[in-house]
Amino acid sequence: MRTLIAYETAHGSTEAVAEVIAGRLRDLGADADLQRCRNVDAVEPYDTFVVGSPVWGGNWLKPARRFVRRFEEQLAQAPIAYFHTSGAAGDPQQRPEIEQMMERTLPAYAPGVEPLSIAAFAGVIDYDQYNFALRLVMKAVVGRAGGPTTGRHDMRDWDHIRSWADEIYRMFSVELQGRRGNVN
Ligand SMILES: Cc1cc2nc3c(=O)[nH]c(=O)nc-3n(C[C@H](O)[C@H](O)[C@H](O)COP(=O)(O)O)c2cc1C
Repeated sequence: MRTLIAYETAHGSTEAVAEVIAGRLRDLGADADLQRCRNVDAVEPYDTFVVGSPVWGGNWLKPARRFVRRFEEQLAQAPIAYFHTSGAAGDPQQRPEIEQMMERTLPAYAPGVEPLSIAAFAGVIDYDQYNFALRLVMKAVVGRAGGPTTGRHDMRDWDHIRSWADEIYRMFSVELQGRRGNVN
């Protein structure tokens, strides 16, 4: 299994999530590469894909949206899984809503691509990393939802992330076996 983990990030926390997924897939036996979506030139070397981005205003970041559109034809032929990180996924009250919203939103970016799984991961809210404008926006949005308006809040659940990587490895293996079986 040769897997590309293509991710986007604005402030680094989703990159670390992608690294942990790549590490887990490697431990399980996959040949896993990690690349930022904006840097991917070709997807031909890979037979399986994981694509992830933070949620900003209810969407993946633009380079992640562009990546799945640009390579839609190839990605539609391969086992693929999506994930997103967000503040809302770290709040039990908001989590179901962001899960449902992204289950509808993400497949619409490249309708030919059918992700086997879409994972919602709690991310990081870090006011010290935001510039003035972002800080104002985030304080208003997060504050309105009853969340923190200062400081750093790392809500990433590494066990959840690793167990999802295990799950997609199993799903990818089954899919690849089925495809090889159909060829022979
Ligand atoms: C400008 C901005 C907009 C955001 N919009 C949302 C949002 O709509 N819903 C949400 O749950 N989290 C939102 N977040 C939180 C991020 O998704 C979360 O902090 C994520 O972990 C950031 O990942 P990164 O460190 O890889 O950039 C937003 C953060 C920023 C800075």
